[in-house]
Amino acid sequence: MAQKIERVGVLGAGLMGHGIVQVAAEAGHEVVVRELDEATLQKGLGKVEKQLARAVEKGRSSREDADAVRARIRGTVHYRDLADCDLVIEAITESLPLKLEMWREVDEIVKPDAVFATNTSSLAVVDQAAVTGRPERFVGLHYFNPAQVMKLVEVVRCVTTGEDAFQTALEFARGEGKLAIPTRDRAGFIVNRLLVPYMLDAIRAREEGVGSIAEIDEAMKAGAGHPMGPLTLADFVGLDTLGSICEVLFDEFRERRFAQPPALRKMLSAGWFGRKSGTGFYDYSGETPTENPGI
Ligand SMILES: NC(=O)c1ccc[n+]([C@@H]2O[C@H](COP(=O)([O-])OP(=O)(O)OC[C@H]3O[C@@H](n4cnc5c(N)ncnc54)[C@H](O)[C@@H]3O)[C@@H](O)[C@H]2O)c1
Repeated sequence: MAQKIERVGVLGAGLMGHGIVQVAAEAGHEVVVRELDEATLQKGLGKVEKQLARAVEKGRSSREDADAVRARIRGTVHYRDLADCDLVIEAITESLPLKLEMWREVDEIVKPDAVFATNTSSLAVVDQAAVTGRPERFVGLHYFNPAQVMKLVEVVRCVTTGEDAFQTALEFARGEGKLAIPTRDRAGFIVNRLLVPYMLDAIRAREEGVGSIAEIDEAMKAGAGHPMGPLTLADFVGLDTLGSICEVLFDEFRERRFAQPPALRKMLSAGWFGRKSGTGFYDYSGETPTENPGI
């Protein structure tokens, strides 16, 4: 049976975490978000603030509603403030050692009947479940970027996930107004399993000179009806994130379609992480993005 979720803990207030915080607070939950340090925490909360202010400005939300959402969100740098949460969702850096270290700490502090969820894009959910004392209460809740806008949440059942925790996670995501699609603990789940090889193929097409960066993007928009071309999408996802996802997928399946193209590896060495670093397949320093001549 699904468990009632009132208080939600979120770990990480980065690209995904701040959106997950906002969506949960908008759905009426009390939210505590933990970051590593005060500056990063304030940066994440600032992004939520900006979104709330914009929604009021555009008439999508009333000032009272925005204030109520704001009042439900509390930031912290201490794990101990998550102790009373009914559900804890992690959206920290995509690194298994970091996530395991974090779960060991959180598991000690948070009440035993709370459900734990990972927003990982590529790591095995069971690897994280196994370091906690509650592997049957552990699921994947995979949001998409931006979490405030994207409708889908993949709800991942790993081999240890119990029915109650799984139903709780499904109901929680539905309660946020999301389309909750159940899936299994296979690297990449549904969407990244299909989308990552597509973005990697677009990079290989560029390497082989099939088209310029903009031509590849424009072709997929006009020819396949995609709202965004694959190289723009890669910049949006973050090339560092894409790089780590494809490494995990390659390790898991040993298939060439998941292998990191040399151009991507070199871009990562150069510190070109896409939109978030200002340079990726496009240069974002001007009014409109221009093709990166270095690729
Ligand atoms: N970027 C995407 O499009 C996307 C989409 C879906 C899921 N994800 C997944 O979401 C997770 C986060 O990705 P992101 O893109 O938001 O990364 P990000 O780098 O923007 O944010 C990660 C944040 O976690 C913080 N952090 C690290 N260790 C922490 C800890 N122990 N406690 C609290 N905070 C900690 C960092 O300071 C950072 O602000 C990853 O697992 C990623 O695979 C990413």
